[in-house]
Amino acid sequence: MAELTSLLKEGRIFYPPQEGKDQAYISSRYKYKQIYQYSLDDPDEFWAERAKELITWFKYWDRTCYWDFYKPEIKFFEGGKLNACFNCVDRHLDNPAIKNKAAIIWQGEPDRDTKVYTYHMLHSEICKFAKILKNLGVEKGDRVTIYLPTMPEAVAAMLACARIGAIHSVVFGGFSSEALKVRILDAQAKVVITCDGTYRGGRRITLLDRAEEAIRDCDCVEHCIVLNRFGDPIELKDNRCILYDDLKKDLSVAEYCEYEVMDAEDPLFILYTSGTTGKPKGVYHTTGGYLVYAAHTTQWVFDLKPDDIYWCTADIGWITGHSYVVYGPLALGATVFMYEGVPTYPNPGRWWELVDRYGITILYTAPTAIRVLMREGDQWPKKYNLSSLRILGTVGEPINPEAWVWFYVNVGRKRCPVVDTWWQTETGGHMIAPIPFAVPQKPGSATYPLPGVEPVILRADGTEADINEGGHLCIKRAWPGMARGVWGDEKRFKEVYFSRFPGYYYTGDGARKDEDGYFWIMGRLDDVINVSGHRLGTMELESAFVEHPAVAEAAVVGFPHDIKGEGIFAYIVLKEGFDPTSELKKELVSHIRKVIGPIATPDFILFAPGLPKTRSGKIMRRILRKIAAQQFEDLGDTSTLAEPEVVEKLVDLRKNLK
Ligand code: WTA
Repeated sequence: MAELTSLLKEGRIFYPPQEGKDQAYISSRYKYKQIYQYSLDDPDEFWAERAKELITWFKYWDRTCYWDFYKPEIKFFEGGKLNACFNCVDRHLDNPAIKNKAAIIWQGEPDRDTKVYTYHMLHSEICKFAKILKNLGVEKGDRVTIYLPTMPEAVAAMLACARIGAIHSVVFGGFSSEALKVRILDAQAKVVITCDGTYRGGRRITLLDRAEEAIRDCDCVEHCIVLNRFGDPIELKDNRCILYDDLKKDLSVAEYCEYEVMDAEDPLFILYTSGTTGKPKGVYHTTGGYLVYAAHTTQWVFDLKPDDIYWCTADIGWITGHSYVVYGPLALGATVFMYEGVPTYPNPGRWWELVDRYGITILYTAPTAIRVLMREGDQWPKKYNLSSLRILGTVGEPINPEAWVWFYVNVGRKRCPVVDTWWQTETGGHMIAPIPFAVPQKPGSATYPLPGVEPVILRADGTEADINEGGHLCIKRAWPGMARGVWGDEKRFKEVYFSRFPGYYYTGDGARKDEDGYFWIMGRLDDVINVSGHRLGTMELESAFVEHPAVAEAAVVGFPHDIKGEGIFAYIVLKEGFDPTSELKKELVSHIRKVIGPIATPDFILFAPGLPKTRSGKIMRRILRKIAAQQFEDLGDTSTLAEPEVVEKLVDLRKNLK
C-alpha cells in the first residue's frame, strides 16, 4: 500500500497541565483506560448510565443498544421518550443557577452589534418561533430548511423545529442558490427560514436573493420566513416570503408552545454532506442517541464546566455547529459564545481580542484558521490577555504539527491542552480525541478513541493492519451518535458505509496506529477533497463543470495547500470550437461559485488536451494528483494508458501554469 505510507514522523509529546487536573471529569490516563475498557465490556450499562446522567427522559427505553452493520440497522434507547429542545432549554429553567445565565453571547462583525440571550430569553424566543411554525402548518416529521448565518436566532430556529418534532436541514449560508435548491428539493422542505444577510470581512453579504432564487423552482415550499439581521426595511419578491418580525407581532410576549414527546429514534435533523457521487447526500440523525452523544462528548472532550465561556468557531451549517455550538453545550447548560465575522477582519488580532474581551475559556476551531492566523505572526496573539483560556480544540482536517505547536505556544501559552478531534458528519460527535487532562498529546495525532468507540485499521483485503501500517479507518461497533441513514436513499447508506468492509462502518479516511496506540489520521482515501475543513466531492465538482457549455470533460483532484490543507485542481477538456482563454477560465470559476458556492472556488484550472485514462476508460486520478502536486518524478506506470503521451503534455502544461 505505497499510497498509504505515512510521511509524518513526530516525536514530541505534551503532558496535560497540573492546573485543572484535579477538577477534571477524567483526570488520568489510568482512569481513561478503565472507563474505555468498561465501555467496551458492557456497552449497555455504559450508555445507559451516560444517557440517564446527561439527558432528561420522559420515559426510559426498553433496549439500550442494538445494531447490525450487515443490514444495516442501528438503534439506541429504543422506546425512550424525550425532546431535544426541552433538554437544551426548558429543563434548565428549573435550575436557578442556569435560568438567568447567558445561553448565547453573540458578537456581530461590527463591534456595535451584540446580543445576549439568557436561557429564559432563549426559551421564549424558541416558543415564539415554534408557534409561528405551527401556525404556518408545520407538523411533526415535516422538513424545514434553515439558511442563516451565525446569529442566535438560527439556534432558536433549529430548536424550535426540534420542539415541535419538525426535522431541520441547515444549509451553510456560503452555499449558492443552486446548491440550496438541490437540498430543499431533496428534503422536500415545507418551510425555508432565511434572513436579509450577514457581514463578512466588512462587507454586507445578502442571503435573501439567493434564497428567493432557490425557492422559485421548489413547489414543496409553502412559506419562507425572513429574519432581519441588518435592521433595514426588507423588500420581498416571492409571495411566499413573510417577515419574521411581522409574524411575531401577533404573539404575546409570554407565548408558550408545547413540545412534542419524541421517540428516541425519531429523526432530529438532516445534514447534507459530500461523498463520492455527484449528488450530496442528506445524512440524518435521530433524537435520543444523537443528543446523548453530543452532550457526552462535549462534557468529556472539552471538560465543560458550568462557568466556562465556550466558543466553537464553526458555522451552524456544518455538523460541528450542530453538535458543538447548539446541542452539546446547550444540553449541558453552558454559555456559548458566537461570532459572526471572519478571523482576519478588521485585523488578524480579532479572535484574540474577543477571547480577551469575553473571557473565553474553551476555544474550538479549525486547522485552516490556525494556519491563516499563524501566517500573520505571533505579535497578534501577544497583544492580548489570553489567560482565561484553559482548553483548545481543533477539528475538520489533520492538523500539521507546526500549526498545532503554534496554537499551543502562542494561544494556549503552553498551559492549555489541545484536543485534536477526529470525527465526521456521519458520526454525530467526536470519535478519536484526547480527553484533555487524561491523555498526553502528540501534535498531529487525534490520540485515543473515546469510550464506546472501537476503531480498527484495515488493509484492502480486510485484514487488520500492523502497528504503524497505514490502512482504512473503520469502526467495529455502533455508538449512539451514529447517523441512521441517508434521507430518501437507504440503499446508498448501505453502499457507502457498510459495503466496502462488511460488518464495519467505513469512514473513507486513511489512518495508522502507532506503537503507543495513538491514531494518526492521514486524510481521505475516497474521492473527497477537504478544503479548509469543508468536504467537497470531486464528482460533485466535475458535474458542475460539465454543466458549462464549453466543457467536454472535467477531472478534479486535490493537492497540498499551505493554508487550506487541500486545494482544488481542475483539468478541463474543452469542446470543439472553444478557446482556452483566461476569460473562459474566469467564467468557469464564477460558474462553479454559482453552482456550488465560494468554498468550491478552484485554485487551478488547467485546459487539458485530454485526460489520462486506462484502456477501459477509467480516469487515472493518481497520476492527475501527482501532476497537480508537481511530483513529476514518480508518476508510476503509465504504460497501461490508452494514450500515454497525454501525460507528458499535462506535465508541460502544469509546469507553465501560474
Ligand atoms: C476530516 C467534520 C483529521 C476527515 C467534523 C473526516 C479530520 C472529514 C479531523 C469529516 C481531524 C475531521 N483530523 N481529519 N481531527 N476532523 N477530519 O463530515 O477526513 O465535515 O472524514 O465532519 O474531515 O468531515 P465532516
